[in-house]
Amino acid sequence: MSTEEPVASRESRAQVRQMLLIGAVASALGIALALVIDWFPIQASKEGEKIDTLWDVLLIASVPIFVLVETIVLYCAIKFRMRPGDELKDGPPIHGNTKLEIIWTAIPAILLVGLCTYAYVVLTDIEEAPAAESLNVRVVGEQFTWTFYVERDGKEVKANQLYLPNDKPVYFTVQSKDVIHDFWVPAFRMKIDAVPGIDTHLRVTPTRIGNYPVVCAELCGLGHSTMRQTAHVLDQAEWEKKMDELAAGPQGGGGGGGGGGETDGKTLFTESAQPTACKSCHTLADAGATGTTGPNLDEVIPDLSDAEIKESIQDPEAKITEGFQPGIMPRYGESLSEEQVDALVKYLKEVAGQ
Ligand code: CUA
Repeated sequence: MSTEEPVASRESRAQVRQMLLIGAVASALGIALALVIDWFPIQASKEGEKIDTLWDVLLIASVPIFVLVETIVLYCAIKFRMRPGDELKDGPPIHGNTKLEIIWTAIPAILLVGLCTYAYVVLTDIEEAPAAESLNVRVVGEQFTWTFYVERDGKEVKANQLYLPNDKPVYFTVQSKDVIHDFWVPAFRMKIDAVPGIDTHLRVTPTRIGNYPVVCAELCGLGHSTMRQTAHVLDQAEWEKKMDELAAGPQGGGGGGGGGGETDGKTLFTESAQPTACKSCHTLADAGATGTTGPNLDEVIPDLSDAEIKESIQDPEAKITEGFQPGIMPRYGESLSEEQVDALVKYLKEVAGQ
């Protein structure tokens, strides 16, 4: 160390203090901002509470590090930038700093071990079987829809949408008929892969009455984005009523069902056709539909006879429109009644037949 060092080191200590101060202020702002942002949809399960807290802790732990690193990079880029006349100069020959290296290895290591332990504890906690008896629900994924089988009095009640009683622990068994899908209800904060040939499981206790999207979170083919359903969390009495209705058969709903007996072509097209409303994949001006997954109906319907349209709805594989692939459109012959398909054909001919 030469005799000039003290001045230089006093100067660099001041620079470090300045950097840390800017970093601290930026971190505080960063954390405040990160906590104010509403990252997730509404929270509707017991598990969700723990997961949202975990998320907040992760934010508080990681935002300062991100901000600190970015602050130092920016500070150095400005403070130590090359000025005119510096082009040929080399910087001072500095050797590594052991103390700093130990600090910047130890702090992240401690943080990482701490956060991993916490995350592990939360995960074990939410996967633990609850004391109360669980409702068993089997979820079956296929290209491109979900079907739900709710166990009730030892029998399975089949439904196209998911109906759950509020405040009751649910034990999901998730399966797939074809490729890998992923059963996800964002409001519950829980998701798990549906893998052909094996059963996967998920525990959720809904805590809020309402309707929440069920989505597929694994790219599973061209119709992946349309593989959506709705989870209805009902109070116990309403749920019992709905289960009775579903157990009585698709047409036995007495008008109270979710479109089980709907015969208005336009309504079927835009919202109620199961498993997915036609609107999500096709373009049809009259319905305000702009989907491009399937053929544009304004263009193809005029060239088709009633019988051909009917066949395309009931058994889409029978004839595939040029430029489109088989295996995308569900076989509506399995989910819609003859009457409903006729209503769709009539509607399509009326609005796009010319
Ligand atoms: Cu099923 Cu994506």
